[in-house]
Amino acid sequence: MRRALIAGNWKMYKTDAEAIELARGLAREAGNLTDRDVLLCPPFTSLKSVSEAIARTNVKLGGQTLHWEKEGAFTGMVSGPMLKSVGCSHVIIGHSEQRQFFGETNETVNKRVKAALFHGLVPIMCVGELLAEREAGKAEAVVKEQVEGGLKSITAEEMKKIVIAYEPVWAIGTGKTATPDDADNMHRFIRSLIAKMYGDAVAEGTIIQYGGSVKPENVDELMAKPNIDGALVGGASLKVDSFTRIVRFK
Ligand code: PGA
Repeated sequence: MRRALIAGNWKMYKTDAEAIELARGLAREAGNLTDRDVLLCPPFTSLKSVSEAIARTNVKLGGQTLHWEKEGAFTGMVSGPMLKSVGCSHVIIGHSEQRQFFGETNETVNKRVKAALFHGLVPIMCVGELLAEREAGKAEAVVKEQVEGGLKSITAEEMKKIVIAYEPVWAIGTGKTATPDDADNMHRFIRSLIAKMYGDAVAEGTIIQYGGSVKPENVDELMAKPNIDGALVGGASLKVDSFTRIVRFK
């Protein structure tokens, strides 16, 4: 059985004081859940303080990206060992905003996924098509290329540690959600790709999150779908009330 993983991607929101306040609120409201995993991904500047705010709760901590080298002259970047050193267990990789604004490609996604695994972090590898690609009937082809490219030369043993997040780009921050059926269909397709690459057992164990305008009003029907194993939440993860309701999906 796959264990649900609900992650808050705070993107470039929250000063340190605001981050601490939000993390404390979530620790109080969602810190003792044992039948699902809750993950917070604040900006780098607040990883350490969020880590302290969620200490001794079940809430986990993740970065929003990482560099593939362990250290070096790479101004602006952080590495796997650095994320580990402040308590991260997970790291988001290949988010569409990284692809769109910061030159992320399937090749760099692949390098980051390998680095995350090497340093003992769970990679959350994001994939998803643009609106134009969906309208042109190319959604599956694009996602296939992203899945295969991002997982290039990853072994079956490694695949067991990787989480995939399907985030149709047209649904991110727009208030438009994929219908639960559309999302579930794409998740099934992604699972079939994993099955071809790694076999049925690995595919059945792979957690595939949905992301894109997940909110309290739609989380229950999304999570009720057989192939949707979690959510990667942006906007609605920035408030204690809405994220708590999402985490407590029924
Ligand atoms: P959203 O963002 O929930 O604000 O649509 C999701 C994401 O980008 O991970």
